[in-house]
Amino acid sequence: MSSTARHTLPEEDQLFRLLRQLDRAPEASQRATAQALGVSLGSLNAQLRAATEAGLIHVTDRDTATDRRQRFAYALTPKGGAMKARLVDRFLAGKLAEYHALHAELTGEDASLIPTKHRTDVMQNNLAPIPELYVSYESAQKLKVEAGNLPSWDLTARQVCDLELLMNGGFYPLKGFMTEADYDGVVENMRTADGTLFPIPVTLDVNEKFAEGIEPGQDIALRDAEGVILAILSVTDKWVPNKSNEAAKVFGADDLAHPAVNYLHNTAGGVYLGGPVTGIQQPVHYDFKGRRDTPNELRAFFRKMGWRKVVAFQTRNPLHRAHQELTFRAAKEAQANLLIHPVVGMTKPGDVDHFTRVRCYEAVLDKYPAQTTQLSLLNLAMRMAGPREAVWHGIIRKNHGCSHMIVGRDHAGPGKNSAGQDFYDPYAAQELFAKHAEEIGIEMVDFKHMVYVQEKAQYFPANEVPEGDTVLDISGTELRRRLREGLDIPEWFSFPEVVTELRRTSPPRSKQGFTVFFTGLSGSGKSTIANALMVKLMEMGGRPVTLLDGDVVRKHLSSELGFSKEHRDINIKRIGYVASEITKNGGIAICAPIAPYTATRRAVREMIEAYGAFVEVHVATSIEECERRDRKGLYKLAREGKIKEFTGISDPYEAPTAAELVVDTQDVDVDHCAHQVILKLESMGLIRA
Ligand code: PPS
Repeated sequence: MSSTARHTLPEEDQLFRLLRQLDRAPEASQRATAQALGVSLGSLNAQLRAATEAGLIHVTDRDTATDRRQRFAYALTPKGGAMKARLVDRFLAGKLAEYHALHAELTGEDASLIPTKHRTDVMQNNLAPIPELYVSYESAQKLKVEAGNLPSWDLTARQVCDLELLMNGGFYPLKGFMTEADYDGVVENMRTADGTLFPIPVTLDVNEKFAEGIEPGQDIALRDAEGVILAILSVTDKWVPNKSNEAAKVFGADDLAHPAVNYLHNTAGGVYLGGPVTGIQQPVHYDFKGRRDTPNELRAFFRKMGWRKVVAFQTRNPLHRAHQELTFRAAKEAQANLLIHPVVGMTKPGDVDHFTRVRCYEAVLDKYPAQTTQLSLLNLAMRMAGPREAVWHGIIRKNHGCSHMIVGRDHAGPGKNSAGQDFYDPYAAQELFAKHAEEIGIEMVDFKHMVYVQEKAQYFPANEVPEGDTVLDISGTELRRRLREGLDIPEWFSFPEVVTELRRTSPPRSKQGFTVFFTGLSGSGKSTIANALMVKLMEMGGRPVTLLDGDVVRKHLSSELGFSKEHRDINIKRIGYVASEITKNGGIAICAPIAPYTATRRAVREMIEAYGAFVEVHVATSIEECERRDRKGLYKLAREGKIKEFTGISDPYEAPTAAELVVDTQDVDVDHCAHQVILKLESMGLIRA
């Protein structure tokens, strides 16, 4: 085929006939195809070239064909399939209009046909089983044994989520972790190498050490954290991704304030592996088993119930009255049943945990009309990628048998960037979704933000509020504040059952655990202030207090570690882990290490903020003052080169830029410094005055 000549696509009718014919008989000889279409061989050739160039079909060589006239096989690409479906619609619409007109002419009456749109919706509502990547039970047993000899990769929590949706068809048409060509296409223009729309990279990231031993062509066993084999990956590709480019293109900015960008740079491995996956078994879940459904289980349920149209509601938050009103309206607007489809895999750090949320969902389920609504949990690891994420959610819901999806304000938005601005325009997700809805095969039900109108005692979309009426709204931040401070949450905002659940998991701050994390140079006074603080808190009583002092930790938890960056990071992460457990269980942890690196302090903050407050206190005594005091004589030794890698002398200290509190011990006594911390804790609501 000439690479320079451009061919024009045939007229719509002819193109429809061509695509339909190729779809029906992809391996027919060219002569037979030309005959079926009633065109010459030359004209058929031109049409085939044009359709190939337009990405509607792809051609494969059939070396094995005995008949030389059958050298090629033609198959519709997903784009071709979508085009065919569109042309079928138009063709039918045309025919129905003709029929309608004829009927009216002959009888003088309206033919009262079913509207075309409705017919086509019903026809396209795909409730047939979707392909999964699992092998049969017998093959799985054999593979499990064979896999004993393969290199094993222990999947991260996020990878387990991704693998589950790959295997059960949630990410259909993906057949495995993306290859480099698919990844490049997805990052650059949201399409895999064959043109399929897929907006988020689904890749298997591994560390350099593991990657060194793996070559394309090899199989590897994919195991969960307990070592249970879930699948085999036949590696076809191994590459080092350009993570900054991935961040910029997929998430819109290479900014660590974006949780997925932070994950990409600070958690994900440096090498990606790609290739097809053979599914052995689904990941085991011990919680809410009865509420988890694969795409095929949901499709079967919808078939059984006769639900032809289903509108999906994606959420990572508890359901309050505004959400209920929105979902009611959406179902009514689409004349569809409702699927509440919350994400229970990974959501935004700091979100309400899924155990609490599911209890909240269950508590409000009976507020929906019986027989019209289904709750099902989705083990998706969200990326918070806003517009791209919305399109991804659409593909996933389509695969789960839904015909519609609700896209609200700021869908899957990650909040503010490091400059304090929103990452995405609040309605960018709706725009991108609308552009691709037809190709995804799902209709968007778009909604503005829902607000409560006091005079009407009712919820309205923000843009439909009657003029002059009073709008009431409680933002997520305000709700968290009220929970934290034990303040009233009005009934117009949420259901009492939901509020009770939330209060159970989020007691007021004054009853929660928290961590005070001192950081500063050696000899800055961290330990002394920390000790004074501990005694003051114990005097107040109410919660157990544990002091994790730098020296003490190094003796009991980290005695084998030195002072290289790697060892310091391990040391701080151990402290963070212990402090997070104390915080989770309602105690107070006071930590006092040097903790010289910003990224490590941030990692510890994230670990702890999942359970309670993290109060970073920078003991900002200058290096000159620390050296002047030199209580342990270490600065002298460091200056003499007898201690290597000494913080502030021959090793870095990255001072915090956004600590909750900065104290300087120069000319200030310890008691006063400790009191400053107490005042801070009071102002944060962590202790009662
Ligand atoms: S770190 O960087 O956070 O892991 O350090 P940390 O666990 O707080 O340990 C610091 C204490 O170890 C002593 N020490 C050193 N500090 C810094 N650099 C070097 N090379 C070093 N070697 C020993 C020092 O006494 C520190 O105690 P503090 O209480 O901070 O003075």
